[in-house]
Amino acid sequence: MAFRSFILMAVVIAALGYFATGGAATNQLLSGDTLKTGENISDINYYLKMQSDCNLALYQINPEKTVWYTQTNGKGAECVLTLGTDGNLFIRNETQSIVWETKTNGTVGSYALLLQRDRNLVIYSVPIWSSGTGVV
Ligand SMILES: *[C@@H]1O[C@H](CO)[C@@H](O)[C@H](O)[C@H]1NC(C)=O
Ligand SMILES: *[C@@H]1O[C@H](CO)[C@@H](O)[C@H](O)[C@H]1NC(C)=O
Ligand SMILES: *[C@@H]1O[C@H](CO)[C@@H](O)[C@H](O)[C@H]1NC(C)=O
Repeated sequence: MAFRSFILMAVVIAALGYFATGGAATNQLLSGDTLKTGENISDINYYLKMQSDCNLALYQINPEKTVWYTQTNGKGAECVLTLGTDGNLFIRNETQSIVWETKTNGTVGSYALLLQRDRNLVIYSVPIWSSGTGVV
């Protein structure tokens, strides 16, 4: 009996943990989203982190490896990565100066930066399907 309640409790705790993390995608930034100093987006074996030294770096966890970085270390503090609503991806320091950008600004719309399973960082823009249910 005691063992059965233990099992039940373990199942409940596991379920709570699952719903707490929500299963929401953490491998993306959408138009207008930011990654502040100390924050990251990640996929199973990789993460992209906005570091306190202002460098934006992509890491592989296993085997551990630095994959790519913006070489913006030392360019300021409290740096923030933003995917603009115009598709430009940029890093601003605390004095609001842009210290790095992809220069991919175009028309205002929906863009997505994905940290893909293949370790590539990609900005997407052109929709291939829509439910047509957007609210303006
Ligand atoms: C990435 O962000 C997650 C969620 O905020 C956090 O739990 C994790 O420790 C961070 N990883 C690194 C390497 O900063
Ligand atoms: C922020 O970036 C600008 C432009 O690169 C630079 O002149 C300024 O010194 C930076 N701020 C700090 C605190 O490093
Ligand atoms: C992108 O921004 C630059 C600088 O503000 C501007 O000159 C250029 O016209 C913009 N490009 C597009 C496609 O809007």
